[in-house]
Amino acid sequence: MSKLQLAIVFGGKSTEHEISLLSTRSILREIDKDKYDISLVRIAINGNWFLVDTVDAIESIPITLIPSKYGTSILAIETGQIIKTIDVAFPILHGVFGEDGTIQGYFRMMNVAFVGCDVMASSACMDKDLTKRILRDAGIGIAPYMVATPEYKPDFAKVEKALGLPLFIKPANLGSSVGVFKVENESEYNEKLKEALTYDYKVLIEKAIVGKEIECAVLGNEKPKASLPGQVIMNSEFYDFESKYVNKDASSTQVPAQLPDDQLEVIRSMSIKAYQAMGCEGLSRVDFFVTNDGEILINEINTIPGFTNISMYPKMWEATGISYPELIDILIELGLERYKRDNQLKIVAQEVK
Ligand SMILES: Nc1ncnc2c1ncn2[C@@H]1O[C@H](COP(=O)(O)OP(=O)(O)O)[C@@H](O)[C@H]1O
Ligand SMILES: [Mg+2]
Repeated sequence: MSKLQLAIVFGGKSTEHEISLLSTRSILREIDKDKYDISLVRIAINGNWFLVDTVDAIESIPITLIPSKYGTSILAIETGQIIKTIDVAFPILHGVFGEDGTIQGYFRMMNVAFVGCDVMASSACMDKDLTKRILRDAGIGIAPYMVATPEYKPDFAKVEKALGLPLFIKPANLGSSVGVFKVENESEYNEKLKEALTYDYKVLIEKAIVGKEIECAVLGNEKPKASLPGQVIMNSEFYDFESKYVNKDASSTQVPAQLPDDQLEVIRSMSIKAYQAMGCEGLSRVDFFVTNDGEILINEINTIPGFTNISMYPKMWEATGISYPELIDILIELGLERYKRDNQLKIVAQEVK
């Protein structure tokens, strides 16, 4: 059987560029090379696209994708030559320009199958305000919150009355805890709200939830499945950038989470409900708070979660019986299935006289 032509698209114009390199190195170590002919497409931090031989390669060919009668191809910009035709793209791009629907829109325009959520689910999950509105509409518990913009910064007194103290302040469209602050009083509130508004035009002000942080991996298109949930155990104030990526001792993870079986089951079914409410496909990691009195709230949904072999998403599947290389195969298959399904939809070209 001929190999599937796979383009792994990684790097990206995002604060999570480096995390993408880590995830991609893991995938390359574990992926079944008998099944795939892999093209490595690196998006530089300035947004330029290159074809490279290895994740860390210095030598690179400037490229772009192009749809043509031969299929979706990788085109060398300087020579104008088609280097290769690809069957499926696997974006390993975290955060903006990767998880927010923009690259998914590009893949659709380039007419190529791709792994993971489509445009709408990606952008809705990227925006924490939209996510919460959709989840609330589906009857799923979320932390109470308010929205601030440069034009509308709610008074501290009003916020304190509605949400209590402490508060969490976070940009609507970032990740990796960048611009996320815990505030205890009015001066911190004013200062951190101003700072968060330098990262995004929309900022969430949330009630601080005291409890465990639980994550659940979801996989599938029309019939998604949820993994055993896992837990992030923190030694720091909260799961900030430092404890996520810098200081490995500041947090640890455990799968399955230390919760009673009935709560684990509720989390699994809530994950699937949230995944479907958001219109997710392929994969997503659903993140929860579980309070000491048993309240289960969804915090956020990550459509391209960290994907190193020790990241929570693959770890949770490993614990549920799907190995890392198998997981990669399933994700690619789901991307191809969705592409095939969507291509069967009718396109009615109306003649306009
Ligand atoms: N309302 C909240 N209550 C308690 N902790 C919170 C709250 N919001 C965020 N946090 C803490 O901040 C971390 C990062 O916030 P999160 O909303 O997950 O944004 P990101 O997309 O950056 O991961 C969370 O993992 C959690 O530790
Ligand atoms: Mg998070």
